[in-house]
Amino acid sequence: MTFASTCRSVFLGLLCALVLPATGPVARLESGPRRPATAASSQEAEPPGRPVVPPPGLDLYLPAPPDNPVTAPKLALGRRLFFETRLSADGRTSCASCHEPGRAFTDGRRVARGAFGREGRRNVPSILNRAYGTSFFWDGRAATLEEQVRQAISGSRDLGIPVAVAAERLSGDATYAAAFDAAFGARPSADRLAQAIATFVRGTLSGDSAFDRFFAGGAGALSPAARRGLDVFNGRARCGRCHAGPLFTDEELHNTGVGWGRDAGRYEVTRLPEDRGRFKTPSLREVSLTAPYMHDGSIRTLDAVARFYDAGGGANPNLDPAIRPLRLTSGERADLVAFLHALEGEAPSEPVALVLEP
Ligand code: HEC
Ligand code: HEC
Repeated sequence: MTFASTCRSVFLGLLCALVLPATGPVARLESGPRRPATAASSQEAEPPGRPVVPPPGLDLYLPAPPDNPVTAPKLALGRRLFFETRLSADGRTSCASCHEPGRAFTDGRRVARGAFGREGRRNVPSILNRAYGTSFFWDGRAATLEEQVRQAISGSRDLGIPVAVAAERLSGDATYAAAFDAAFGARPSADRLAQAIATFVRGTLSGDSAFDRFFAGGAGALSPAARRGLDVFNGRARCGRCHAGPLFTDEELHNTGVGWGRDAGRYEVTRLPEDRGRFKTPSLREVSLTAPYMHDGSIRTLDAVARFYDAGGGANPNLDPAIRPLRLTSGERADLVAFLHALEGEAPSEPVALVLEP
């Protein structure tokens, strides 16, 4: 994909959002000064009735299932649940143990560590901007965020308890009873638990990066190195073929040869031979904060990622045809890395850009 076509897809996203009637509580343009809410670190409830407004660079239409619209009481409840250790088998682990807000919702480890210190087998992906996702997990096995949350609670190497048991644990807590009542008009249940946490994930957004400011016409927003890196990214290195659009992912599954022979990836879901070694293209927003990289955490730095692609990925019979030796100069690799740093949102230590209407 060329720079111009990336531009067009970002631009169209914004344009579509602007011309669509802004219905419902979610997709509305803000009418006053914005303030970034510290969605993850603050646990106090936001006043009711304030919709999420995606930051600049993201599509203003924030998708949500018809039976689980984003509302402020649900966001507040979901935020609290995201940090709730009572939802785990050892009573000490929460979503945030693995998805740390200060690391763009990753954990800095090669692979995850769940309740009772159980080691998982894959690297923790960021949850940022997953509202726009169409499939979840490295192998795309969950079709909705609600389903994804259920698996994260019940997975033996994650929180490790049945979702119904998790909901039951909250039922005796009067503050949760009140919060579920405010969000759903009903008491805690497995479905509502998953819906509230999925809503928090939907509201956890990152945009307004140097790239977005450059893209919106701020010619000086990118450093000269990052500007050159953008050309390499969409040009010679063909990164934008897969890391496409405003989120820098096509939401498709590809074989880049990472971990070939150790994790079958999409094949575990479909059992189709051609899916062996395919993994979902991750978003690259905030990627400078999410090391180590890849589904197995096998690459430690962005420079090493650039070298990996430069060398033509990991050789295997299913390698995606877009992955070929690139013969980049060391300067071009450095420029690529500078560009990837330009995908950091406004405040890197607090990447959440959950923006609420005043
Ligand atoms: C033990 C660490 C751990 C815990 C606890 C955990 N996660 Fe995850 N999360 C992961 C890993 C690892 C993956 C990727 C697993 C895979 O693809 O097989 C993941 C994937 C995800 C994804 C999918 C991202 C994508 O791009 O597809 C979301 C969203 C998510 N987790 C949210 C949550 C929520 C919400 C909770 C709490 C209910 C939670 N996680 C608890 C480690 C964890
Ligand atoms: C054929 C599609 C494709 C192309 C082309 C491609 N990528 Fe990727 N990228 C992926 C997939 C798929 C993954 C996940 C691979 C895995 O973990 O098995 C990935 C992972 C990454 C990651 C790790 C992100 C994380 O959170 O772990 C970075 C960084 C990255 N790519 C940057 C680039 C750059 C820079 C280029 C161009 C030099 C590029 N990609 C070209 C599909 C692609």
